[in-house]
Amino acid sequence: MEQQISATTAWIYSVLFAYLPYVAFGIFIAGLIWRIRHANPTIQALSTQFLSNDKMIKWGSPLFHFAVIGVFFGHIFGLLAPEPLYIWLMSNETKRLLAIIMGGAAGIVAFAGITLMMIRRFSNERVSVRSSFADKAIVVLIFVQILTGLLGTYVTSQSPLEAYMTIDHWAQGLFIFKPDSWIHLLDTSLIHKIHILLGFLIVIVFPFTMLMHMVATPIQYLFRPNKVINNGSL
Ligand code: HEM
Repeated sequence: MEQQISATTAWIYSVLFAYLPYVAFGIFIAGLIWRIRHANPTIQALSTQFLSNDKMIKWGSPLFHFAVIGVFFGHIFGLLAPEPLYIWLMSNETKRLLAIIMGGAAGIVAFAGITLMMIRRFSNERVSVRSSFADKAIVVLIFVQILTGLLGTYVTSQSPLEAYMTIDHWAQGLFIFKPDSWIHLLDTSLIHKIHILLGFLIVIVFPFTMLMHMVATPIQYLFRPNKVINNGSL
């Protein structure tokens, strides 16, 4: 059915759900290059475990990190896998069910982890005073992001299949540079829209926050021979 769209609506949707994503990834890539080339030694998530090796970090950190890896790959497959790639293996209804059950489970575990990490960051005095505004803000942002993601999944579980599929059509349209793919989001729930916009905000701030430690994993440590730093002879 043809839907009447006012010029203002079209303008707002194209700015938020077509231009913004490209701008966000542009800033992300430029920021990444800048940070790696000009501010390389500052790339780290300063460990706070030596300040307070408490249960909140011992549980919160692995819960969050393991689960969020699952959430990440769930997003890649869920949003970007084109239908011909999976339809011989599972129907769209099965894919939606997987997103709800597996995505939801990973999301709940990640939520438990980030909640512990956030409470600790604010309530542990030693950790709190040594955290910058950006350190605290990004933890809150991720907390809200996971919460809105889970609420979105709940909405999906209560909506018809088509509502879930339209978000895929939008994401895949963007991926292949179809400028009007924002049309698919016209009837998407508000909570999904908030989640998507906050997602792009995270993409924009990523290179300027401690999230950069994700791209600076010291993989060479797994392969290089041990080094003697101090053999006690001094
Ligand atoms: C631009 C980036 C992002 C987009 C476009 C996006 C999109 C989505 C969509 C459409 C859903 C709903 C799936 C459904 O209805 O079943 C969702 C769920 C979710 N998102 Fe995101 N998201 C983004 C970034 C993030 C980030 C950075 C995080 C975490 C730090 C995150 C965490 C979650 C979680 C926990 C869920 C619910 C469970 C799941 O499906 O895994 N999202 N996201």
